[in-house]
Amino acid sequence: MHAWLCENPVGIQALRWTEMPTPEPAPGQVRIAVHAASLNFPDLLTVQNKYQIKPPLPFVPGSEFSGVVEAVGDGVSHLKVNDRVATIGVSGGFATHACVAAAAVIPLPQGFDLDDAAAFAFTYGTSHHALIDRAGLQRGQTVLVLGAAGGVGSAAVQIAKAAGARVIAAASSDEKCAFCRGLGADASIDTSRENLREALKSITDGKGPDVIYDPVGGDLAEAAFRSIAWRGRYLVVGFAAGPIPALPWNLALLKGASLVGVFWGDFVRREPKAFSKSLAELFDWYARGLVKPAIDSRRAMSALLDAYERMASRQVRGKLLLSNGA
Ligand SMILES: NC(=O)c1ccc[n+]([C@@H]2O[C@H](COP(=O)([O-])OP(=O)(O)OC[C@H]3O[C@@H](n4cnc5c(N)ncnc54)[C@H](OP(=O)(O)O)[C@@H]3O)[C@@H](O)[C@H]2O)c1
Repeated sequence: MHAWLCENPVGIQALRWTEMPTPEPAPGQVRIAVHAASLNFPDLLTVQNKYQIKPPLPFVPGSEFSGVVEAVGDGVSHLKVNDRVATIGVSGGFATHACVAAAAVIPLPQGFDLDDAAAFAFTYGTSHHALIDRAGLQRGQTVLVLGAAGGVGSAAVQIAKAAGARVIAAASSDEKCAFCRGLGADASIDTSRENLREALKSITDGKGPDVIYDPVGGDLAEAAFRSIAWRGRYLVVGFAAGPIPALPWNLALLKGASLVGVFWGDFVRREPKAFSKSLAELFDWYARGLVKPAIDSRRAMSALLDAYERMASRQVRGKLLLSNGA
């Protein structure tokens, strides 16, 4: 097998595409022939030693991938050879093969495309948990999605539309805004040239968005919170811009608004039944054509470094796929 090996987490330049022996699954594991993996922002942070979870060295990065079960370890009863599956974790996916805990493997419904499956659970799971569970989004409410052209942002746009909300997408270029409107956003704000507060005032007739989905942080966060509607919910999803914003607490008081944390990984670990329910609804929406990952581009698995560069330079629209062909 081949895998991208991280022996020293100092950045993407230190990763090596390496040949290694194909492992046998340990008890409780399965071996998956990886069909495709997608790039999530935490994959970028992990190889720079900046993510909250630090895998022991050396490790193979790649938190989300799809494939076919090739071998089953002792004690695994719910999976068998040739099952089509997806999996989410912290590592292992940027490879041709991976052994993973069977408990972390998601059997795919019939008809679920394997490319889509490599780019689904992480982003759609996060955005569904955030908007539906944490924010209690209701039909007819207005949602502002910051970083709307990115991975979790593009999923949030589709999920909010599927839930019957009105969606305002904010992104940093005209092209990204057009992409978001193509995903179903009702309005867009190009944050590179428009004033966010003024634009929101005009689009919402001065009322402001009921829910704000923020995977970006940085400078726009306070301006966005100042625009939130009465009883609004501000979802803290991530800090792709780098700086972690600070908020004057009086703003929450003045709007009767809530700052709501979203930590999908812990939600999956702590509330497995709620996670299964969320995933079942997403699979149903996928089958009905309400949600589908927007694939920015596909590359061979061996071209991972190009994909990392594209994400780090803020060019991605939707999801980047690394594929083992076939
Ligand atoms: N809380 C959770 O459970 C959870 C789960 C998954 C992901 N996340 C977090 O969500 C964030 C987004 O993840 P993602 O996979 O969607 O990433 P992504 O596809 O790269 O999207 C990130 C977006 O952030 C914006 N951005 C602003 N400044 C940036 C900068 N300096 N570098 C890169 N992007 C910048 C970009 O949009 P514009 O160019 O339009 O500004 C970009 O589209 C990450 O912080 C990730 O850790 C959190």
